[in-house]
Amino acid sequence: MSRLKTIILGCLLVSFSVLAQSSEQIPMVEALLEKMTVEQKIGQLNLVTPGGGIATGEVVSRNVEAKIKAGNVGGLFGVSGPNKIRMAQDLAVNQSQLGIPLLFGFDVIHGYKTTFPIPLGLASSWDMDLIKKTAQVAAKEATADGINWNFSPMVDITRDPRWGRIAEGAGEDPFLGSAIAKAMVEGYQGDDLTASNTMMATVKHLALYGASEAGRDYNSVDMSHLKMFNQYMPPYKAAIDAGAASVMTSFNDIDGVPATGNKWLLTKVLRERWGFEGFVVSDYTSLNEMVAHGLGDLQAVSALALNAGLDMDMVGEGFLTTLKKSLEQGKVTEEAITKACRRILEAKFKLGLFDDPYRYIDMDRPKRDILSPENRAIARKAAAASAVLLKNETGILPISKTAKIALVGPLADNRNNMLGTWAPTGETKYAVTIREGIANVAPSAKVQYAKGSNILDDPEMAKKINVFGPRVIISESSPEELLKEALASVSKSDVVVAVVGEATEMSGEAASRTDLRIPEAQKKMIRALVETGKPVVLVLMSGRPLNISEEFEMPVSILQVWHPGVEAGNAIADLLFGNYNPSGKLTATWPRTVGQIPIYHSMKNTGRPAEDPEEFQKFRSNYLDVPNTPLFAFGYGLSYTTFEYSNLKLSHDRIGQNQSIEVSVEIKNTGEYDGATVVQLYLKDVVRSITPPKRTLKGFKKVFLKKGEQKTVRLTLRADDLKFYNNELEFIAEPGVFEVFIGADSNATLKKSFNLQ
Ligand code: BGC
Repeated sequence: MSRLKTIILGCLLVSFSVLAQSSEQIPMVEALLEKMTVEQKIGQLNLVTPGGGIATGEVVSRNVEAKIKAGNVGGLFGVSGPNKIRMAQDLAVNQSQLGIPLLFGFDVIHGYKTTFPIPLGLASSWDMDLIKKTAQVAAKEATADGINWNFSPMVDITRDPRWGRIAEGAGEDPFLGSAIAKAMVEGYQGDDLTASNTMMATVKHLALYGASEAGRDYNSVDMSHLKMFNQYMPPYKAAIDAGAASVMTSFNDIDGVPATGNKWLLTKVLRERWGFEGFVVSDYTSLNEMVAHGLGDLQAVSALALNAGLDMDMVGEGFLTTLKKSLEQGKVTEEAITKACRRILEAKFKLGLFDDPYRYIDMDRPKRDILSPENRAIARKAAAASAVLLKNETGILPISKTAKIALVGPLADNRNNMLGTWAPTGETKYAVTIREGIANVAPSAKVQYAKGSNILDDPEMAKKINVFGPRVIISESSPEELLKEALASVSKSDVVVAVVGEATEMSGEAASRTDLRIPEAQKKMIRALVETGKPVVLVLMSGRPLNISEEFEMPVSILQVWHPGVEAGNAIADLLFGNYNPSGKLTATWPRTVGQIPIYHSMKNTGRPAEDPEEFQKFRSNYLDVPNTPLFAFGYGLSYTTFEYSNLKLSHDRIGQNQSIEVSVEIKNTGEYDGATVVQLYLKDVVRSITPPKRTLKGFKKVFLKKGEQKTVRLTLRADDLKFYNNELEFIAEPGVFEVFIGADSNATLKKSFNLQ
């Protein structure tokens, strides 16, 4: 039995009874705090990484072992596997003076070893049960490898596809983003954090990280409080309401103060307004970065962060190296240090680590729980459900299983680019390529493979992208030779499947782009393929909305598959051959050109709206060179079948405050295939005291209908769905007319109105 266990045993029984009321102090933690020196408390606020994961900053922690023994570490991240975690936990529990167990964090963003599609892809499934299931699988696998704390979900709203991290979140919409945030937190944490297959979730990055100016990563953010509360904050709050145990701050500033040192954000909003009771961790060196932001030296910014409400310092060791001095100089209080330390200890208590520090360490589990056939089956379904059919030129998709196929493109037989960005725990060797998937699903198809082009031809750009592995490999053969091979395979085929798009690290952290077109090397190949006159399917991979205005004009079918994860090839083959009917819908608007950014469905009307968004009108809000409409609207996505929406009904045409309203609509599958559609409900608040958006998503349901089947779908508009934050930041609904739109995307046209009294 560890020394610590002996100290706490007496308190344990009492403490379990107060678990349900987390706002109350936990006697065991209080007893421990009583015994701790200020140095030991500061030690708990220190999060280090020995560099096993992806080091996204310049610093990687040094002398980790000695620091753990000295009681200078509260948690480790980027370490996995029961052996390594046991060794580290042993150092803390048996070799440090107080024996306080460590937290073990990791970025398990879209699956652990069973890698699911990138989050933007998963969001496109609009299937909350499926998303929750992926989080449960991630938790099961990660905890099998000893991890008890996850740096996910990332719920940053963004309306800027130039920002590479759009791949990591749910897209542009706060209503959908909130539902996904909740599903993920529930999936990771379950209803018992002490269970050995659940882990703490971290909602990140608080706040507004997705609004980095010009889509350049880590850039400043400047936003009105109205926009913040109505559009950007809801998913963070939803994750917190769902019980997320921790929060990670963002790199950017808000109202001129970086989030990591922003007291208004971390105390007034997060704790006082939202009632958050867990702990707050900085992002990777975001505390130290306040020096570069221009807020003072390391000691000053560390004191600022502690006083603002930051509890744990990731990697930067500003807390560890300066707080004692700040205490002596009266710049921070011991009470503030104790408060932060209490929150870390409470998290450890809630995980059950004081009861059993080795709770997550079981040598038999990795083999049993990681990459099991059941987990892979969920990944295959998730990858298929994430795909969005953007265009289906008559008769091309689905393809016959006995067709002669020219399979071309730099991503068609490319294991290194299937998992997507931020998959540090995934291993490319387990990924199924498209070529392999087609062979698995349609063994009778006659496939001629040729690479056709490089992802891009610029070696300098390739170097920037290949930081975590060889994602862009430029062939020894010349572009002309590659193309010649592809055209030769096309001449022997009935149909061309070209797998094109972005390499995984062309999106993600520090991967912003100003040009969102498919790289020119591939565009040349696409043009040549189309010129052959053979039917062409573009299977498009990317971590963001791309500008595919040119390809959209071509007589091709386009299936957007994001970066689909470990089961990529099997899932895409399921889609291509019709084993799975595409049902994904975009969760971020696709612009016609970068110049339209930001473009999103809940924009405001303006005082001079364009009467016809497709036609230029002088002195109206539009552009000379492109229409106002996007290439693909939010919520858009086709199917191999067709659906008819009719008979929209509202349960009331007049309601009172705090009353909800039932909305029903009939859906019929009118095409030739079974399939699913996402019924989407948009609301317009016609007149109110602050300018309303043209419409906002306020409900959705994914429904499956057999060929010819008809269903009545019911959705509820709750009282809160009519509310918004006004200029005083009160959350209210104002009396008046509301219009309800129902349809299969944000251009929904079925409409009914009701009156709020
Ligand atoms: C990212 C975080 C991540 C952290 C730890 C940072 O660079 O912004 O999202 O959790 O690294 O890996």
